[in-house]
Amino acid sequence: MIFYSTISKNIGKHPDRTTEKNRRVKSIFVKNFMYLCSCVKINDSYLMKHLVFLTGAGMSAESGISTFRDSNGLWEEYDVMEVASIEGWYRNPDLILKFYNDRRAQLNEVQPNEGHKIIAALEKDFQVTVITQNVDDLHERAGSSHVVHLHGELTKACNESKTQVYEIGTKAINPGDKAKDGSRLRPFIVWFGEAVPLIEKAAEIVFTADIVVIIGTSMQVYPAAGLIHYAKKNIPVYLIDPNPVNSSSLQVEIIKEKAGKGMAILREKFITHHSS
Ligand code: OAD
Repeated sequence: MIFYSTISKNIGKHPDRTTEKNRRVKSIFVKNFMYLCSCVKINDSYLMKHLVFLTGAGMSAESGISTFRDSNGLWEEYDVMEVASIEGWYRNPDLILKFYNDRRAQLNEVQPNEGHKIIAALEKDFQVTVITQNVDDLHERAGSSHVVHLHGELTKACNESKTQVYEIGTKAINPGDKAKDGSRLRPFIVWFGEAVPLIEKAAEIVFTADIVVIIGTSMQVYPAAGLIHYAKKNIPVYLIDPNPVNSSSLQVEIIKEKAGKGMAILREKFITHHSS
């Protein structure tokens, strides 16, 4: 408006002076217009709503990875404290190495499912963060860019003090393998009895969420199960699970479906109601 009125005031004045002044005004106008455009572009990302997913084993079930506590789940076949605790590691490291070598090898056989893919595709319209209890890499392989693995990652190994971390892909860790510091090489997994180093970061992320979606977790393992309580009051919270956890303390909209179908339903809802 200011630039427009400056230009209009100069109409009818001496042609040379007016032309020169108009040129300067025009150049300022163009510079400011471009600056405004760049601001809008930068701020696009801030205008996007922050969508936070809290995912558990059910997220990867349709990819063929067993959950833990369903019937036929992993904890029916294995004693959790033998294969997924720090005490188990001290008692029988070979058993633990084999358990996680098998899980890691399975990554070669499985693919991200529709649910993983929809979550990744939502990055076009939302700022998306995935906080997962899963140790597989299916969210990343589906294309998600911001994934926090609360319970570690199968594709990594570490030294005993967890201060050195190595990418190993789907390779096995063999008994006797050593880390660079000479300690035993172990799976980069957070076992029962160990701290969850990323829990504070995860809580901060949940606090910044505009929408939270919980998928495929029995919400039995803390501290992960407590993360939802860091969400701001009154934001929409959805729970996708064919057999959802029954908790009256959770004010959520339940979508009683498997991850793939549940995410297809939510995608429609999001595009209609929440994208801005
Ligand atoms: P659970 O096995 O405890 O729960 C799996 C949840 O997924 C259940 O609520 C199922 O109803 C649901 N589910 C099953 N199939 C599904 C599908 N197709 N789509 C969506 N949901 C489905 O697994 P988590 O809650 O992830 O930790 O377990 C948490 C932690 O306990 C794991 O990270 C692991 C385990 O012990 C460690 O090993 C440290």
